[in-house]
Amino acid sequence: MKVLLVSGSPRRGQNSEKAVEFSRKFLEESGVTVNSFLLSSKKVDFCVACDYCKSNSGCAKKDDFLEFSDLAFSSDVILFFSPVYFGNVTGQLKALFDRARVLRKGFQLEGKLGAGIALGHSRNGGCETTLDSIHHWMLIQGMKVIGNLSHYGGTIIDDFSTDEIGRESLLGVLKQLI
Ligand SMILES: Cc1cc2nc3c(=O)[nH]c(=O)nc-3n(C[C@H](O)[C@H](O)[C@H](O)COP(=O)(O)O)c2cc1C
Repeated sequence: MKVLLVSGSPRRGQNSEKAVEFSRKFLEESGVTVNSFLLSSKKVDFCVACDYCKSNSGCAKKDDFLEFSDLAFSSDVILFFSPVYFGNVTGQLKALFDRARVLRKGFQLEGKLGAGIALGHSRNGGCETTLDSIHHWMLIQGMKVIGNLSHYGGTIIDDFSTDEIGRESLLGVLKQLI
């Protein structure tokens, strides 16, 4: 089993990346192979609807999206960790989602498992709507969405280190992968 952990936060070492690190340790200790892709240290430009991907096998833009697509293609599971920005994913993650139009050609992610983990400041601040956006992307890619054997996935409120309820919701996702 290979799991890819993607963080959509522009901030290094903060809540999303703390949750990614916690997940990496948990999964690796259970024998799972884990790769991470942290958007805080990557360059993934916007899709500009040039339609190059419609008549070619890749994207016209040669940036870190290529690394993401290689990792995604070789993984069995993809988990997206996103801060909540105005009730939705970050712009950085949305840019990656849009660039992934090229992966729908032949449905390259079809059948892979996916889950979302939303990290926000307020309990009612939009974690679930953020998870919705992640789930929609996965469904449009032909992936199979999993929750946390309770509700919709991981929902974590600042700060990751102290939100025990949030950590349990993340563990509900991770425990299905071991
Ligand atoms: C532009 C912006 C918009 C935000 N919008 C929301 C929001 O709608 N709801 C919420 O609960 N938190 C919101 N937050 C707070 C972040 O989602 C929260 O602090 C999150 O844990 C940050 O993740 P990070 O530490 O991985 O960057 C917002 C933060 C920023 C910078």
